[in-house]
Amino acid sequence: MQSYAATPIAPFAIQFDAAAATLSPPGPTLERRMSDLEGLFADRDAWQKAVDGDNPVVYRVQSSPVPEIDRELPQSITTIEPGTTGGELWMTKGHQHPNYQGEIYLALHGTGGLLMFDGDRVEWVTMAPGTIGYIPPGWAHRSINIGDEPYSMLAVYPGGAGHDYNWVLEHGMGNRVYKTPNGFELRPYGGLS
Ligand code: 6PG
Ligand code: NI
Repeated sequence: MQSYAATPIAPFAIQFDAAAATLSPPGPTLERRMSDLEGLFADRDAWQKAVDGDNPVVYRVQSSPVPEIDRELPQSITTIEPGTTGGELWMTKGHQHPNYQGEIYLALHGTGGLLMFDGDRVEWVTMAPGTIGYIPPGWAHRSINIGDEPYSMLAVYPGGAGHDYNWVLEHGMGNRVYKTPNGFELRPYGGLS
């Protein structure tokens, strides 16, 4: 019998509702409001105005009960509301996995994008139901809602990968994603205004 530093959890079924963007049994859920996205939108005044206004929920993340520990394979569903701040489409904070490991995203509802940056190169994958976006080890990643309805995707990632949010504050994400009359456009990252 294999021995483990932390005993794996027992096998179980996870009910997955793509339309409702839920996993059952549920694990931890988190809500990111505009105030949680400090230093990420280029237009700081527009960001501050939204925070001082109704400080809207930008996205929610619902996890299954699989723990974030080495060797386990946790999953979560992220739902990003439609919206813009200073013209920039609503997005997740974005992070790097410090223990460089791969991850997959499966789009469930709405349309979005998977922006990846390795500190040098930028990659973009347009996400719609049926698309799996693959994030190789060492690429920071951020999701963006490019549509007019909520965008949801399922993420599956190694439990020991960790989440480094400061990496994005320090290095940016290579590009920013703006709403245009015809859809969206990627622009160079630049600094904050
Ligand atoms: C992960 C996934 C994903 C991500 C959410 C929220 O590694 O857990 O990439 O579940 O955490 O989409 O995005 P942020 O973690 O960047 O806020
Ligand atoms: Ni990740």
